[in-house]
Amino acid sequence: MITDLRSDTFTRPSAGMLEAMLQAQTGDDVWGEDPSVNQLEATMAEQFGMEAALYCPSGTMSNQIAIKVHTQPGDELICGQHSHVYIYEGGGIAFNSGVQTKPIESDRGMLAAADIVAAINPDDVHKARTSIVSLENTSNRGGGCCYEWEQLEQIRAVCDHHELALHRTVPGYTTHWWLPAKLPKPTAACSTAFPYASTKGWAVPWAPC
Ligand SMILES: Cc1ncc(COP(=O)(O)O)c(C=O)c1O
Repeated sequence: MITDLRSDTFTRPSAGMLEAMLQAQTGDDVWGEDPSVNQLEATMAEQFGMEAALYCPSGTMSNQIAIKVHTQPGDELICGQHSHVYIYEGGGIAFNSGVQTKPIESDRGMLAAADIVAAINPDDVHKARTSIVSLENTSNRGGGCCYEWEQLEQIRAVCDHHELALHRTVPGYTTHWWLPAKLPKPTAACSTAFPYASTKGWAVPWAPC
């Protein structure tokens, strides 16, 4: 057996997964009539304590949609200089949302609340309106580092105070169930948007988020 450690995406669906796909009930999702998608979205929303969930076939798509719905063209997004949304999504934030990005220094992908405060633009007609903070937990380029619960609470407080959305992309969640004991509901509820990828580590042959 070959163990490929290049990425947690190097996984293949098992025979049972493929069989489950073959047997899955299907329907027209545009009309809300795909029972499998409906069940997945309802389960995810319930599990993470969110108002609703939206199935997307990739993590990139879910990030882009989350940013789009929380911003207006001309806004500014704060994120880490190593974050996936900044370096690996093809300029999608600019293209899809018309939003400019302010990447800031981070400690192995983790942003400090004080640095976020310092990066928020003043209410000035010359400045882009800061409207969203994007976190990555765990951090891909940070070597899989993750936030302490207290750090997330501090950042949540900053976002509340400045009326900013908090987008938190969670690529490796399924491989990190051992993280804070408070997972999963409060962790998700700490965020305005909570993209969650189940390809990573589970070998799921698509990426519902
Ligand atoms: C933080 C983060 N966001 C998004 C993605 C992209 O996911 P996908 O390949 O499903 O678009 C990744 C992939 O590793 C990721 O690490």
